[in-house]
Amino acid sequence: MPIDIQNNNGKISHPTIFVIFGITGDLAARKLLPALIGLYAKKLLPDRFCVIGFSRRSFSREEFRELIRGRLNIRPGQFKEEDIKHFFDKVSYEQGHFDSPAAYGRLSKQVEAIDKQWGQCSNKLFHLSVPPSLYEGILNNLATSKLTVPCGDGTGWTRILIEKPFGNDIETAASLDKLLGKLFKEEQIFRIDHYLAKEVLQNILAFRFHNSLFEPVWNRKFVSRVHIKLFEKIGVEGRGALYDKIGALTDVGQNHMLQMLSLIAMERPKSFDAVGVRRARAKTMRMVETIKPKQLGRLAARGQYEGYLNEPGVLPGSKTETYFRIEAKVNNTRWKGVPFYLESGKGFADSRTEIDIYFNGNNVHGWLRKDESHGEFAKVSRQNILTFRIQPEECIKVRFFVKAPGKSWITEPRTLKFKYSDVPEYSDLPNDYERLIGDAFSGDQMLFASTEEIMASWRFITPIAENWSKVPLKIYKRGVREIE
Ligand code: BG6
Repeated sequence: MPIDIQNNNGKISHPTIFVIFGITGDLAARKLLPALIGLYAKKLLPDRFCVIGFSRRSFSREEFRELIRGRLNIRPGQFKEEDIKHFFDKVSYEQGHFDSPAAYGRLSKQVEAIDKQWGQCSNKLFHLSVPPSLYEGILNNLATSKLTVPCGDGTGWTRILIEKPFGNDIETAASLDKLLGKLFKEEQIFRIDHYLAKEVLQNILAFRFHNSLFEPVWNRKFVSRVHIKLFEKIGVEGRGALYDKIGALTDVGQNHMLQMLSLIAMERPKSFDAVGVRRARAKTMRMVETIKPKQLGRLAARGQYEGYLNEPGVLPGSKTETYFRIEAKVNNTRWKGVPFYLESGKGFADSRTEIDIYFNGNNVHGWLRKDESHGEFAKVSRQNILTFRIQPEECIKVRFFVKAPGKSWITEPRTLKFKYSDVPEYSDLPNDYERLIGDAFSGDQMLFASTEEIMASWRFITPIAENWSKVPLKIYKRGVREIE
């Protein structure tokens, strides 16, 4: 059994080789490499660690570094220059076509040479940072070249990190999973949904189950609706060709949005570990009611931002949505009848991801003073709202009502708010990809999607996607705050 020696601060000490397929791509520059530099800067990477970037294009080592360095999505001053430089000393490049067995042979030799130099059988982590259409070829070649077989003495593991979307529908997802299952054991497969690693999302379970105030009202008797929003200011940002094939529903609906729903709606996990939590999430997702084609017009809306058709890579006249809103229902005793609105769009005025839980409003228990529940006053909704602000300005807040000072009994809304940045120790929140890579190193799959979750999410999304064209596509202006 491979052993990872992990220090208390999260550092893994066993030598590790991290192979990135598609290192020159957008994801590697935006998320993966900045996270690895972050881990390096925090001294959480093993002392013996290296990255082998695999990509189709041919570069000299210097050209490769320049290219990657220039595209990294990091803020000025985020890392010390010397950390970036030393990190890049650990990065090498292997040019090859993803479908060429010879390239995997060369990669294999490079990996063996590093192990020999280190005098140890290292861990190998493979990351697929490429369009999903290339997954099958890469996975098969990895298996054929035996790169995925842990070293003979069993001290080093091999694991695979795989990005969404997992398939385009339930069938393609099942066949990808079948292939993965043939080549790897489940404990070697780390399916990334980076939203699961966002700090406030993790807090949902802790907040709910560790505060006796909330769990008793976490049900249909007290909650009238849940609104999950993922709004982004950015558009498709150079990903037009890929995005145009999938649209917002597959891009974020099948994964991030349903994961947020399941964290809100799930039952208490039987065990608080990867097995228990993943099972509880999957079970909730399986309970999401399928939407029939004839219900779609009433329960779903979709839109496209003005100018989307001019984005590079987007097909002329494309009807791909950059916005959607779906009213979902969770069919169990706890939630029956409570609408869960899933709403996401690009090209909005601001980027904001949050979950609002609306508790029952007016007249649940009757007002204290009848006369003041009439007239203008009665029009004000007196719903308590619990909000998890995932990003930016991470916070948890509750809207509640207080009596305005003075003789009257008029109540006014006020907010109780816990803001992470107000707590000095919480102000530097862990980055989602840093967390995921760290967990993949230590073998903790709690924040990764299981095959059951993937299948359950596609079971809900596929019938909507198949009938999407029946929902009119509304064109909206960039910079909107909301869509009517
Ligand atoms: C990705 C989607 O999974 O999530 C992107 O493919 C989206 O379209 C991104 O922009 C949002 O992630 P974050 O972490 O920036 O909120």
